[in-house]
Amino acid sequence: MSFIFTSDNLKKIDEILSHYPQDRKISGLIPILDLAQRQNNGWLSPEAIVAVSKLLNHPEIRIYEVATFYTMFNLKPVGQYHIKVCGTTPCWLCGAGDIRKVCEKHLEIGLNETTPDNLFTLSEYECLGACVNAPVVQINDEYIEDIDAQGLIELLDRLKQGEILQPQSLKKRQGTKPLS
Ligand code: FES
Repeated sequence: MSFIFTSDNLKKIDEILSHYPQDRKISGLIPILDLAQRQNNGWLSPEAIVAVSKLLNHPEIRIYEVATFYTMFNLKPVGQYHIKVCGTTPCWLCGAGDIRKVCEKHLEIGLNETTPDNLFTLSEYECLGACVNAPVVQINDEYIEDIDAQGLIELLDRLKQGEILQPQSLKKRQGTKPLS
């Protein structure tokens, strides 16, 4: 399927590129890939990569080198909600392994798979940078902290029913304050 940046995104791209010298446009690659991914339902199709390559006048292979290095970029379609369970040690010690398994069972999919209704994709990521409130799951742009398997399942069911996704601590923690 073809990919053409929207006029809104072209304006954003002009703004991004205004921060860099004319002969260093490639420096704006990461935010431009992010725009392309958001426009393309959460993933970078080959056509989107070609569009970015042409826009920045840079070989496609260079664009792929960046897109395949950063886990924030998806090179396969993802569901409406991309669930990223942190699998690094602090979250793992706090139960992330069980959370992942329960999630797989509830959604009836494995890692890096998407439910047949295209609603949920499940992935495991390295440290999400919020270890103090482990275990942590990122869903799209939002962090769900102090999570447990049951809490995640209930949240997924509510999302399925149309609840708006919000960042939250399931233990109602304020920021990174210790729990009393
Ligand atoms: S280890 Fe999970 S957020 Fe850092």
